[in-house]
Amino acid sequence: MREALAFDMYGTLVDPISVRRRLEETVGDAAAAVAEQWRSKQLEYTFRLTAMGRYLDFAEVTARGLDYALLATGQTIDETQRQELLAEYQRLAPYPDTVGGLRRLAAAGHPMVVFSNGTPAMLDALLDTTGLRELVPEAVSVDEVRAYKPAPAVYRHLTERLGHPPEQVMLVSSNPFDIVGATAAGLRAAWCNRSGGVFDTLGDPPDIVVDTLEELADALTRARETDRG
Ligand code: 2OP
Repeated sequence: MREALAFDMYGTLVDPISVRRRLEETVGDAAAAVAEQWRSKQLEYTFRLTAMGRYLDFAEVTARGLDYALLATGQTIDETQRQELLAEYQRLAPYPDTVGGLRRLAAAGHPMVVFSNGTPAMLDALLDTTGLRELVPEAVSVDEVRAYKPAPAVYRHLTERLGHPPEQVMLVSSNPFDIVGATAAGLRAAWCNRSGGVFDTLGDPPDIVVDTLEELADALTRARETDRG
């Protein structure tokens, strides 16, 4: 039985860059600073909520992250512009290698799901607007257990939803915090290093490091051929 693949969404399957373009139209030169503060606060709030044993869904956390970023950079926008920016999260585009990589991995027989902090509604919208639903029909949202990555409970929930033991599930993510959380929970992990950055000095290293999902398909094919001897 092929190992199941669970794909992180934001920054792994789809590129948040179009949020940046909408920000440039809205706040001009401040776009880079707002985007940086927005993404880092969005994730920081998920970590802090989970550490506090509290929960707000990812749509709410994303909105509060934007509000913080605008305050921190002294930008003022109207509610229509704010809603347009938040709606951009439903319209993110797949990376150039996403469809080809997913198609090859599906053809190789891997069960595949999306696994994300996004709410079920956010993920459903993206699976439909990107057309990725034909390749990855199902999404597992951490919203189902009201805790965020990298809490062990979310990876346990993923394996239960998949009906596979942890060692037969591979997380595929561009986010090192997600990879470290998955390996700590006993899953295998492939780091899709889209930023060209360095990996964390915390936790176990990923089982596989690739730059694209096409490379992941190549790596898993090579591993199968090696296993066959
Ligand atoms: C996710 O999709 C936030 O990228 C992270 O879960």
